[in-house]
Amino acid sequence: MSQVGGFIAIEGEFGVTEREKAFPALLERLKPRCEEIIARYEEKRSALVQLMHLFQEHEGFVSPQAMRYASERLGITLADVESTVSFYTLLYRKPVGRYVVQVCRGLACSICGAEDAMRAFRERLGAGTLETTEDGLISYEEVECLAACDRAPCAQVNLEFVYDLDEKKIGEMIAAMRGGRYATAPMVQTEEPQRTWIVEQEGSIAQGRRSKGGLGVPDDPGGIDREGVIMLDRILAKGFAMHGASRERLVREVRDVTELVKEEGVRF
Ligand code: FES
Repeated sequence: MSQVGGFIAIEGEFGVTEREKAFPALLERLKPRCEEIIARYEEKRSALVQLMHLFQEHEGFVSPQAMRYASERLGITLADVESTVSFYTLLYRKPVGRYVVQVCRGLACSICGAEDAMRAFRERLGAGTLETTEDGLISYEEVECLAACDRAPCAQVNLEFVYDLDEKKIGEMIAAMRGGRYATAPMVQTEEPQRTWIVEQEGSIAQGRRSKGGLGVPDDPGGIDREGVIMLDRILAKGFAMHGASRERLVREVRDVTELVKEEGVRF
């Protein structure tokens, strides 16, 4: 049993967690805010992302109960809600740490030393990308360009930017989080996180596209993901044939158009 975010995160009777038991009261509390948000939109389904952020703010992640409520209130299917939530990487479908550290692995950051920064985070946290530390305090993720390339290498912690990362700064950041004195407020945590917050799904298409890094090199920063490698292989193997086929089709289509123009007697 552990006390987290004002909730006791243990399984209660019949496997119902304290967070689940607390959800109806939370929902009653948030309903006026939800209605305010919904009223801003002509189409109520447009309020979905904002509603999910609101629940995440209070539960630390987007829980199945929050998704079910949104589906019923907005009159859309649960599948619609899940597909939207799973699309946005800033919405977590499983509990995460009180601090979510997202380190940029984009081109500008890579040139300016993102690999060293990522290595430093991984070693000090004992966690790879999309993983949470053993103590459940910090979740770590390597992400694409954060749009702060002029201050590379950079990261976000609970969505607040940290610029010009180096080993010293990284050490201080982690020490401050562990010491409860980090500048950005910790997130609410109503359930203890597991090692990863990836939601496993059936089939390669349903698994999403959040690459772990280079093929065969788990957690290697940057690089091209598995699907990218497969696509490149295909292009390299068939590139000439594909190019030839495209040319052939183009010539054929130009001929067809020319014939048509002649037949119809179109004048320009
Ligand atoms: S590449 Fe890192 S912020 Fe753009």
